[in-house]
Amino acid sequence: MCGIIGATGSDEVLDVLLEGLARLEYRGYDSAGVALQRDGALWRARAATGTRSLEDLRKVVPEDPLTVAAGIGHTRWATHGHPTEANAHPLLDCSGTVAVVHNGIIENWRELATRLQGDGHTLASETDTEVLAHLIEEEMDGGSSMAEAVRATLRVVRGAFALAVVCANEPGTIVAGRRVSPLVIGMGEQGQALLASDIPALLGRTRRFWVLDDDQIVELRPGSMRVTTLAGKEVEPNELHVDWDIEAAEKGGFPDFMGKEIHEQPRAVADTLLGRLLPDGTLALDELRIGDDELRQVDKVFVVACGTSYHAGMVAKYAIEHWTRLPTEIDIASEFRYRDPVLDGRTLVVGVSQSGETIDTLQAMREARRGEAKVMVISNVVDSSMARDADGVMYTRAGPEVGVAATKTHLAQVTALELLALYLAQLRGTVAPADVGLLVERLAELPDLIDRILQHERTAQEAGTPSPVAQVAGRLADTRDFFFLGRHVGFPVALEGALKLKEISYLRAEGYPAGELKHGPIALIVPGTVVVGVATRTELWEKMMGNVAEVRARGATVVLVANEGDHETAQQADEVLWVPETHKLFAPILDVVPLQLLAYHIARMRGHDVDRPRNLAKTVTVE
Ligand code: M6R
Repeated sequence: MCGIIGATGSDEVLDVLLEGLARLEYRGYDSAGVALQRDGALWRARAATGTRSLEDLRKVVPEDPLTVAAGIGHTRWATHGHPTEANAHPLLDCSGTVAVVHNGIIENWRELATRLQGDGHTLASETDTEVLAHLIEEEMDGGSSMAEAVRATLRVVRGAFALAVVCANEPGTIVAGRRVSPLVIGMGEQGQALLASDIPALLGRTRRFWVLDDDQIVELRPGSMRVTTLAGKEVEPNELHVDWDIEAAEKGGFPDFMGKEIHEQPRAVADTLLGRLLPDGTLALDELRIGDDELRQVDKVFVVACGTSYHAGMVAKYAIEHWTRLPTEIDIASEFRYRDPVLDGRTLVVGVSQSGETIDTLQAMREARRGEAKVMVISNVVDSSMARDADGVMYTRAGPEVGVAATKTHLAQVTALELLALYLAQLRGTVAPADVGLLVERLAELPDLIDRILQHERTAQEAGTPSPVAQVAGRLADTRDFFFLGRHVGFPVALEGALKLKEISYLRAEGYPAGELKHGPIALIVPGTVVVGVATRTELWEKMMGNVAEVRARGATVVLVANEGDHETAQQADEVLWVPETHKLFAPILDVVPLQLLAYHIARMRGHDVDRPRNLAKTVTVE
């Protein structure tokens, strides 16, 4: 959940750290800090001023950065200990000669802290991280090198983490290691050796990356890296090819990343379809890594995910069951793991995760493997921990998503899941080839249809007027209570619309299956409550409109997502959000877009930072 960066072998170490920290802020921004090794000593600076942390850190860094031999940096999302400067990373040992930055959780830190204090160490923070610095100090006091000390430390700690260490008496050296949490190494021009918890942090400096496996450590020195196991055996790390360019990680003219990313959705969906829809009307998922014969054996599917990815997974349940007739369950990852699911070798478990690092989903997938299920992941991050763990992988190709609220990765996930559902149907012969061909055609239309929704935003922006959705947002921005209703695949769309509004506007927004409303929640509908309904045309449209009538009768203000030109639906609404028509199972890919925009405009009108909503982090790597 925190961001880590490290650099050596350059007279720009400090610049690399500050630039990387700026790109890592989406992982958390409770505090920021650096430890620099200069003139045979360590120099540390930290700031814990929330969203201003990095700005404040810049004010206190040295004016003569050329003397920095190596450095590590950190941006924090607090887990153990309050978001104070004392708890900000880097954390030091007793002597102030070892500095550590860390992402993740050291599960046995309390027992280690008690033991260290008993041995005379003074711990200055409330964090789990600090024990690492003192354990390394102990090993180095006993004559170990920094690398040996880190290896010994990682042998006694439990949990999921990545860490990077510098010490005063090994100039130019950084030692880093990982278990579960992500860590990449980059080698730049002219001897720059770099590391970070995320690739975008280093994209401006290099395109040559390597990924550490669990329980490996790396020693970085100017121009070199050496990777070893915890037993000290030297190993070759896996090199990684990255296509993302630096511009893709920047705002591209939009006021924020979320706005930019909403407008990148046609591209994200098109790229996710690329090469997977064949001209003969069939589908190909070549890189899946699970063979067709194995997939034909599957007799049950579980989809596991969290948050927005879970909503994408809900759509998959409808699609997989409809087209393949395979029983499909959708589970919140943190529940799946502990509910003793019935799994065997014919079960397919599909993890859905933008980051590929969410600990709940990662651990749920590991649980599934222990149950001998075939496990695959749909992830946006190449070589993420889930991608490396799973038997199979299907990448969404949305490019890096910086805004904490997921948008383009959600559309790409739903697209990938639709592809998977249809591919399974094609393999199992449950949809006739001609019908697969027709569905492939409808899928291929989606990028243009999404673009059509967004075109209204661009036209309005060019004209300097509010877009139609922004006008609706303006009329609703002072409402406190929203209900989002949908049926069938409109239900996950309603849930996602409500989540987006909650996350960035901090307004109460609940999503319900429309038919469930009269079993309780309708008691909350009073004049002035806003009800947003997904009312695009399906065979359930009449029932949906019946539910709309129920809330109208109780004085709700009704906002409906409706198909372009559907005036019958519009007549039942106070406000309409128009979308083009598509196949009913692909409709979530279009219907959610105006709901993203509604949340986006309301949040901006209420003066919120949509990219960095309070209390949230982009990647949740703690349970
Ligand atoms: O990286 P993941 O897709 O596994 O993340 C899952 C959730 O944490 C994520 O979707 C979260 O709900 C977002 N803030 C939604 O906008």
